[in-house]
Amino acid sequence: MRKDPLAFLGTELTSLKSQGLYRHLRVLDEPQAARTKVDGRDVINLSSNNYLGLTTHPRLKQKALAALEQFGVGTGSVRTIAGTMQIHMELERRLAEFKHTEAAVVFQSGFAANAGTVAAILGKEDIVISDELNHASIIDGARLSRATIKVFPHRDVEAARAIVRDLPSTGRKLLITDGVFSMDGDVGALPGLCDLAEEYGLIMMVDDAHASGVFGRNGRGTIDHFGLHGRVDVQVGTLSKAMGALGGYVAGSRDLVEFLQHRGRPFLFSTSHPPSVAATCLAAIDVLLEEPELIERLWANAAFFKDALRDLGFNTGASESPITPVIVGEGAKAMRLSDRLFEEGVFAQGIAFPTVARDKARVRTIVTATHTRADLQFALDTFARIGRELGLI
Ligand SMILES: Cc1ncc(COP(=O)(O)O)c(C=O)c1O
Repeated sequence: MRKDPLAFLGTELTSLKSQGLYRHLRVLDEPQAARTKVDGRDVINLSSNNYLGLTTHPRLKQKALAALEQFGVGTGSVRTIAGTMQIHMELERRLAEFKHTEAAVVFQSGFAANAGTVAAILGKEDIVISDELNHASIIDGARLSRATIKVFPHRDVEAARAIVRDLPSTGRKLLITDGVFSMDGDVGALPGLCDLAEEYGLIMMVDDAHASGVFGRNGRGTIDHFGLHGRVDVQVGTLSKAMGALGGYVAGSRDLVEFLQHRGRPFLFSTSHPPSVAATCLAAIDVLLEEPELIERLWANAAFFKDALRDLGFNTGASESPITPVIVGEGAKAMRLSDRLFEEGVFAQGIAFPTVARDKARVRTIVTATHTRADLQFALDTFARIGRELGLI
């Protein structure tokens, strides 16, 4: 009989189970919202990136339905063959206007935008200088590019400078940071890194996935928040988180966008967004511009929740955004905390290695604009009770 060449997979899974790190997928029975039903249980949802509650916003749903009726369910092609509709062009025009850049190009996801862009603009003679906590899509893009990868300690501009100072003068060099770090909720060292990029002629790139719709005026991101317009060459944003739908984009110069249309592999080799998704994203931009009170409510909820978790004695790290980690250390402990919270009606996912360092496992929380104070108070009371039960506070 043929020996199973994939037998090692079973061994790996058994090992995860024995370490308490095996996860069943949590399944939503209802829409993605602040209160929802997951695995048959009514919960306060602190696990999504649906910062502004746009996944169920009536204006977005209405635009999606209208586009679906008018243009059908799919595009049937990649962008460069027959998959570019007027609505894609309109979305890119609006994104560029929103971000105050010459142009923008949309990818199927934020992951595709990061990986596709880094891999397109660098080659094996080049160098990427990257914050140690940058997102996996940046790391994968850097690997695909075959450039040399230099990693600097988290948010440490002087350490980045020491790396840059010693680099050869030849080849392209890309300095890259997340705008907001997805697991810790802290903000990239953008002003210092922009200075460094200018001093040494580096390409400056920021992945603003978790800042899109959250930071800056009307959610324009960290570049706007820090007043760095014109100093970041490549701005990546996502349409999948605060914008409520799906997709990623790169905003920058006309040349950058045209280059990515020719060399960005996900743009060339993967089918474009259904028109309903593009319409949803257009409506999300309208909401950012016309309903800024959503962003205000998000930040007020974030401040309330974060302060209360700290006051309870939890270790919430260095978060400066609506992402608040509750850091507990060991992976199994984080999963236990998450499981107990869930049993008591609070959905907050445990995150362990390899997503975060082995000793920094956590339960990650994200509040949204659509949580009520009663929702948040219920979650805090539950955190307090389970935290004491598990000896965390
Ligand atoms: C920092 C960061 N960049 C990029 C992405 C990818 O975005 P998307 O979910 O749109 O692929 C994520 C999402 O997990 C992220 O957290």
